[in-house]
Amino acid sequence: VFANGEKASDFLAEYIVEKINAFNPTPSRPFVIGLPTGSSPEKVYLNLVGYYKAGKISFENVVSFNMDEYLGLPPTDHQSYHYFMHHHLFDHINMKPENINILDGLAADPAAECARYEAKIKSYGGIQLFLGGLGPEGHIAFNEAGSSRDSLTRKVTLAPSTLEANSRFFDNDPNKVPKFALSVGISTVLDNSEEVVIIVIGKPKQFALQKTTSGPVGSKFPCTFLQTHPNVLIVADSSAANKI
Ligand code: GLP
Repeated sequence: VFANGEKASDFLAEYIVEKINAFNPTPSRPFVIGLPTGSSPEKVYLNLVGYYKAGKISFENVVSFNMDEYLGLPPTDHQSYHYFMHHHLFDHINMKPENINILDGLAADPAAECARYEAKIKSYGGIQLFLGGLGPEGHIAFNEAGSSRDSLTRKVTLAPSTLEANSRFFDNDPNKVPKFALSVGISTVLDNSEEVVIIVIGKPKQFALQKTTSGPVGSKFPCTFLQTHPNVLIVADSSAANKI
Protein backbone atom coordinates (compact mmCIF):
# COMPACT_ATOMS: atom_id res chain seq x y z
CA VAL A 1 0.00 0.00 0.00
CA PHE A 2 1.46 3.34 -1.06
CA ALA A 3 0.63 6.88 0.00
CA ASN A 4 -0.75 7.75 -3.42
CA GLY A 5 -1.31 6.43 -6.94
CA GLU A 6 1.89 7.94 -8.22
CA LYS A 7 4.04 6.06 -5.71
CA ALA A 8 2.12 2.83 -6.35
CA SER A 9 2.67 3.22 -10.10
CA ASP A 10 6.37 4.00 -9.63
CA PHE A 11 6.78 0.83 -7.59
CA LEU A 12 4.89 -1.32 -10.09
CA ALA A 13 6.75 -0.07 -13.16
CA GLU A 14 10.08 -0.77 -11.46
CA TYR A 15 8.78 -4.19 -10.38
CA ILE A 16 7.85 -5.09 -13.97
CA VAL A 17 11.20 -3.92 -15.33
CA GLU A 18 13.04 -6.00 -12.73
CA LYS A 19 10.93 -9.08 -13.53
CA ILE A 20 11.55 -8.81 -17.28
CA ASN A 21 15.28 -8.18 -16.87
CA ALA A 22 15.69 -11.02 -14.37
CA PHE A 23 13.92 -13.38 -16.80
CA ASN A 24 16.37 -12.36 -19.53
CA PRO A 25 13.98 -13.09 -22.42
CA THR A 26 15.19 -14.33 -25.80
CA PRO A 27 13.30 -14.80 -29.11
CA SER A 28 12.75 -18.48 -28.29
CA ARG A 29 11.98 -17.78 -24.62
CA PRO A 30 10.00 -14.53 -24.53
CA PHE A 31 8.59 -12.90 -21.42
CA VAL A 32 4.80 -13.15 -21.75
CA ILE A 33 2.82 -10.42 -20.04
CA GLY A 34 -0.91 -9.75 -19.71
CA LEU A 35 -1.90 -6.10 -19.83
CA PRO A 36 -4.93 -4.06 -18.76
CA THR A 37 -6.33 -0.72 -19.83
CA GLY A 38 -8.05 1.91 -17.69
CA SER A 39 -6.78 4.95 -15.87
CA SER A 40 -5.12 2.92 -13.09
CA PRO A 41 -2.22 1.59 -15.22
CA GLU A 42 -1.63 4.82 -17.19
CA LYS A 43 1.22 6.06 -15.01
CA VAL A 44 2.75 2.58 -14.96
CA TYR A 45 2.90 2.68 -18.77
CA LEU A 46 4.34 6.19 -18.73
CA ASN A 47 7.10 4.98 -16.42
CA LEU A 48 7.79 1.89 -18.55
CA VAL A 49 8.29 4.20 -21.54
CA GLY A 50 10.69 6.25 -19.39
CA TYR A 51 12.68 3.15 -18.42
CA TYR A 52 12.84 2.13 -22.08
CA LYS A 53 14.06 5.56 -23.19
CA ALA A 54 16.69 5.52 -20.43
CA GLY A 55 18.00 2.20 -21.79
CA LYS A 56 17.00 0.26 -18.68
CA ILE A 57 14.73 -2.24 -20.48
CA SER A 58 14.15 -3.73 -23.91
CA PHE A 59 10.76 -5.06 -24.97
CA GLU A 60 12.16 -6.83 -28.03
CA ASN A 61 11.48 -10.27 -26.60
CA VAL A 62 8.31 -9.45 -24.72
CA VAL A 63 4.96 -10.85 -25.88
CA SER A 64 1.81 -9.14 -24.64
CA PHE A 65 -1.83 -10.17 -24.37
CA ASN A 66 -4.36 -7.50 -23.55
CA MET A 67 -7.24 -8.44 -21.33
CA ASP A 68 -10.19 -7.11 -23.25
CA GLU A 69 -11.64 -4.95 -26.04
CA TYR A 70 -14.98 -3.33 -26.71
CA LEU A 71 -16.99 -5.11 -29.38
CA GLY A 72 -17.69 -2.95 -32.41
CA LEU A 73 -14.99 -0.31 -31.94
CA PRO A 74 -12.35 -0.08 -34.69
CA PRO A 75 -8.70 0.17 -33.57
CA THR A 76 -8.66 3.79 -34.73
CA ASP A 77 -11.45 4.77 -32.31
CA HIS A 78 -9.86 6.71 -29.46
CA GLN A 79 -11.92 4.75 -26.92
CA SER A 80 -10.84 1.37 -28.23
CA TYR A 81 -8.32 -0.48 -26.12
CA HIS A 82 -6.19 -0.92 -29.25
CA TYR A 83 -5.86 2.85 -29.45
CA PHE A 84 -5.26 3.18 -25.70
CA MET A 85 -2.43 0.66 -25.70
CA HIS A 86 -0.67 2.11 -28.73
CA HIS A 87 -1.10 5.65 -27.49
CA HIS A 88 0.15 4.97 -23.95
CA LEU A 89 2.71 2.24 -24.50
CA PHE A 90 3.31 0.38 -27.73
CA ASP A 91 4.07 3.38 -29.96
CA HIS A 92 6.89 4.43 -27.63
CA ILE A 93 8.75 1.17 -26.96
CA ASN A 94 10.43 -1.53 -29.05
CA MET A 95 7.74 -4.22 -28.93
CA LYS A 96 7.66 -6.19 -32.18
CA PRO A 97 4.19 -5.70 -33.77
CA GLU A 98 3.83 -9.45 -34.15
CA ASN A 99 4.31 -9.85 -30.38
CA ILE A 100 1.36 -7.59 -29.54
CA ASN A 101 -1.95 -9.41 -29.03
CA ILE A 102 -5.27 -7.62 -28.55
CA LEU A 103 -8.70 -9.11 -29.12
CA ASP A 104 -10.25 -7.90 -32.39
CA GLY A 105 -13.34 -5.85 -31.54
CA LEU A 106 -14.41 -5.96 -35.18
CA ALA A 107 -14.20 -9.74 -35.55
CA ALA A 108 -16.96 -11.04 -37.83
CA ASP A 109 -17.11 -14.18 -35.71
CA PRO A 110 -16.49 -13.16 -32.07
CA ALA A 111 -16.61 -16.75 -30.79
CA ALA A 112 -13.91 -17.81 -33.24
CA GLU A 113 -11.81 -14.78 -32.35
CA CYS A 114 -12.05 -15.65 -28.64
CA ALA A 115 -11.15 -19.30 -29.25
CA ARG A 116 -8.16 -18.20 -31.35
CA TYR A 117 -7.00 -15.85 -28.58
CA GLU A 118 -7.38 -18.41 -25.81
CA ALA A 119 -5.43 -20.97 -27.85
CA LYS A 120 -2.68 -18.47 -28.63
CA ILE A 121 -2.25 -17.62 -24.94
CA LYS A 122 -1.99 -21.32 -24.10
CA SER A 123 0.48 -21.90 -26.95
CA TYR A 124 3.11 -19.95 -24.99
CA GLY A 125 2.84 -22.41 -22.12
CA GLY A 126 2.37 -19.77 -19.47
CA ILE A 127 2.16 -16.07 -18.79
CA GLN A 128 4.96 -14.85 -16.55
CA LEU A 129 3.01 -11.88 -15.21
CA PHE A 130 -0.62 -10.89 -15.67
CA LEU A 131 -1.20 -7.28 -14.80
CA GLY A 132 -4.79 -6.25 -14.09
CA GLY A 133 -7.08 -3.68 -12.57
CA LEU A 134 -10.37 -3.84 -10.71
CA GLY A 135 -13.75 -2.50 -11.72
CA PRO A 136 -15.54 -0.66 -8.91
CA GLU A 137 -18.04 -3.53 -8.59
CA GLY A 138 -15.32 -6.17 -8.53
CA HIS A 139 -14.73 -7.15 -12.14
CA ILE A 140 -11.35 -8.13 -13.53
CA ALA A 141 -10.89 -7.53 -17.26
CA PHE A 142 -14.57 -7.49 -18.29
CA ASN A 143 -15.57 -10.47 -16.14
CA GLU A 144 -18.72 -9.05 -14.64
CA ALA A 145 -20.73 -10.44 -11.73
CA GLY A 146 -21.84 -13.97 -12.63
CA SER A 147 -18.56 -14.89 -14.34
CA SER A 148 -17.46 -18.36 -13.32
CA ARG A 149 -14.05 -19.47 -12.07
CA ASP A 150 -13.63 -21.59 -15.20
CA SER A 151 -14.60 -18.88 -17.70
CA LEU A 152 -12.46 -18.55 -20.83
CA THR A 153 -12.06 -15.77 -23.39
CA ARG A 154 -15.54 -14.88 -24.63
CA LYS A 155 -18.07 -12.25 -25.61
CA VAL A 156 -19.50 -10.56 -22.53
CA THR A 157 -22.37 -8.19 -21.81
CA LEU A 158 -21.29 -5.18 -19.80
CA ALA A 159 -23.08 -4.53 -16.52
CA PRO A 160 -24.99 -1.24 -16.08
CA SER A 161 -22.48 -0.24 -13.38
CA THR A 162 -19.62 -0.70 -15.87
CA LEU A 163 -21.43 1.32 -18.55
CA GLU A 164 -21.88 4.02 -15.92
CA ALA A 165 -18.25 3.89 -14.70
CA ASN A 166 -16.80 3.93 -18.22
CA SER A 167 -19.20 6.59 -19.53
CA ARG A 168 -16.62 9.18 -18.44
CA PHE A 169 -14.79 8.33 -21.65
CA PHE A 170 -17.97 8.53 -23.77
CA ASP A 171 -19.27 12.08 -23.20
CA ASN A 172 -20.56 10.97 -19.77
CA ASP A 173 -23.34 9.11 -21.58
CA PRO A 174 -23.70 5.40 -20.61
CA ASN A 175 -25.76 4.90 -23.78
CA LYS A 176 -22.69 5.65 -25.87
CA VAL A 177 -20.58 2.95 -24.18
CA PRO A 178 -20.48 -0.30 -26.22
CA LYS A 179 -22.80 -2.86 -24.62
CA PHE A 180 -20.59 -5.83 -25.37
CA ALA A 181 -16.92 -6.66 -25.16
CA LEU A 182 -14.52 -9.53 -25.72
CA SER A 183 -12.65 -10.47 -22.58
CA VAL A 184 -10.25 -13.06 -21.28
CA GLY A 185 -11.96 -15.22 -18.66
CA ILE A 186 -11.17 -15.79 -15.01
CA SER A 187 -9.58 -19.14 -15.85
CA THR A 188 -7.61 -17.56 -18.70
CA VAL A 189 -5.93 -15.28 -16.18
CA LEU A 190 -5.62 -17.51 -13.14
CA ASP A 191 -4.80 -20.84 -14.76
CA ASN A 192 -2.15 -19.59 -17.17
CA SER A 193 -0.23 -17.07 -15.08
CA GLU A 194 2.72 -17.62 -12.79
CA GLU A 195 1.97 -14.32 -11.10
CA VAL A 196 -0.97 -11.89 -11.12
CA VAL A 197 -0.45 -8.26 -10.16
CA ILE A 198 -3.46 -6.02 -9.59
CA ILE A 199 -3.18 -2.25 -9.43
CA VAL A 200 -5.91 -0.55 -7.43
CA ILE A 201 -6.03 3.21 -7.12
CA GLY A 202 -8.57 5.60 -5.67
CA LYS A 203 -11.46 5.68 -3.23
CA PRO A 204 -14.04 4.30 -5.71
CA LYS A 205 -12.13 0.98 -5.57
CA GLN A 206 -12.40 0.55 -1.77
CA PHE A 207 -15.36 -1.79 -2.03
CA ALA A 208 -13.83 -3.96 -4.76
CA LEU A 209 -10.51 -4.21 -2.96
CA GLN A 210 -12.19 -5.21 0.29
CA LYS A 211 -14.06 -7.98 -1.56
CA THR A 212 -10.86 -9.06 -3.31
CA THR A 213 -8.97 -9.59 -0.09
CA SER A 214 -11.67 -10.82 2.27
CA GLY A 215 -14.95 -11.46 0.46
CA PRO A 216 -16.31 -15.00 0.20
CA VAL A 217 -15.03 -16.51 -3.05
CA GLY A 218 -17.70 -16.64 -5.74
CA SER A 219 -19.14 -15.33 -8.99
CA LYS A 220 -20.98 -12.46 -7.34
CA PHE A 221 -17.68 -10.60 -7.12
CA PRO A 222 -15.32 -12.18 -9.68
CA CYS A 223 -12.32 -10.39 -8.13
CA THR A 224 -12.65 -12.79 -5.17
CA PHE A 225 -11.40 -15.61 -7.41
CA LEU A 226 -7.98 -13.99 -7.11
CA GLN A 227 -7.85 -15.61 -3.66
CA THR A 228 -7.59 -18.99 -5.42
CA HIS A 229 -4.30 -18.10 -7.13
CA PRO A 230 -1.07 -18.88 -5.23
CA ASN A 231 0.87 -15.80 -6.35
CA VAL A 232 -1.08 -12.54 -6.41
CA LEU A 233 0.38 -9.13 -5.61
CA ILE A 234 -1.94 -6.20 -5.01
CA VAL A 235 -0.44 -2.76 -5.44
CA ALA A 236 -2.77 -0.12 -4.02
CA ASP A 237 -2.82 3.43 -2.85
CA SER A 238 -3.97 4.28 0.66
CA SER A 239 -7.37 5.59 -0.40
CA ALA A 240 -8.27 2.32 -2.17
CA ALA A 241 -6.87 0.30 0.73
CA ASN A 242 -8.68 2.24 3.45
CA LYS A 243 -11.09 -0.62 4.25
CA ILE A 244 -8.73 -3.60 4.30
C1 GLP B 1 -12.38 -1.37 -17.51
C2 GLP B 1 -11.46 -2.47 -18.00
C3 GLP B 1 -10.82 -3.18 -16.85
C4 GLP B 1 -10.20 -2.18 -15.89
C5 GLP B 1 -11.29 -1.30 -15.35
C6 GLP B 1 -10.81 -0.29 -14.34
O1 GLP B 1 -13.62 -1.85 -17.14
N1 GLP B 1 -12.11 -3.41 -18.83
O2 GLP B 1 -9.84 -4.07 -17.34
O3 GLP B 1 -9.54 -2.85 -14.85
O4 GLP B 1 -11.84 -0.60 -16.45
O5 GLP B 1 -10.47 0.89 -14.96
P1 GLP B 1 -9.92 2.16 -14.21
O6 GLP B 1 -8.50 1.83 -13.88
O7 GLP B 1 -10.02 3.27 -15.21
O8 GLP B 1 -10.76 2.38 -13.02
